[in-house]
Amino acid sequence: TLKGIAFDLDGVLTDTARAHYRAWKRMADQLGIPFDEEANEALKGVDRMGSLALILGDRPGYDEARRVCLASQKNDWYLEEIAHFGPGDLFPGARAALEQCRAAGLGIALASASRNAPLLIARMQVADLFDTIIDPASLAAGKPAPDIFLAAATALGADPAEMLGVEDAPAGVEAIHAAGMKAVGVGTPAALPEADWIIPAIADFDLRDYAD
Ligand code: G6P
Ligand code: MG
Repeated sequence: TLKGIAFDLDGVLTDTARAHYRAWKRMADQLGIPFDEEANEALKGVDRMGSLALILGDRPGYDEARRVCLASQKNDWYLEEIAHFGPGDLFPGARAALEQCRAAGLGIALASASRNAPLLIARMQVADLFDTIIDPASLAAGKPAPDIFLAAATALGADPAEMLGVEDAPAGVEAIHAAGMKAVGVGTPAALPEADWIIPAIADFDLRDYAD
């Protein structure tokens, strides 16, 4: 039986992927590094410094101090992008999906790699629907490592085998499976071939489909 569920945020409950992309694109343009939406796909679910490393590749001249500076500049631009976020920026059906889990008595965790996640869920007025928000800064390794989902299980007092993870990124689905949970993928079967179930959007979330 299902005891808990861990939701990713970006790309699952709200469309911040575009905002992240625009902020990274601004930085890449300034550095003269080619970057497009296709390259951006690989950054989904990957933490801030990890994303920067993927954009910079093996280009020389980017020591740790410069990277920290670039990551902070990107985050300032990202904060500009999400400055006006509110409840209307939740994907249709996102609140209903959380309420469905609550009504079923599941523990609900937010398992986002984003340090901006607490700010976003507060602005979108769904913070009260989560029992726990995992702080990615407290973890040794980001997705695709299982740490964030294992921390969610611990915080909810649930066995990972009794939990579901909901993700839009391949790195996230990999992390869910590494933690020993089943994965609901939000997207297309082509993008998330490893997911146990696929829904095109969070509006299609239906707990009854995920009972085993
Ligand atoms: C999520 C997004 C990534 C982002 C990461 C870190 O996983 O999908 O695109 O890089 O969070 O976000 P942050 O807000 O901490 O820079
Ligand atoms: Mg995501």
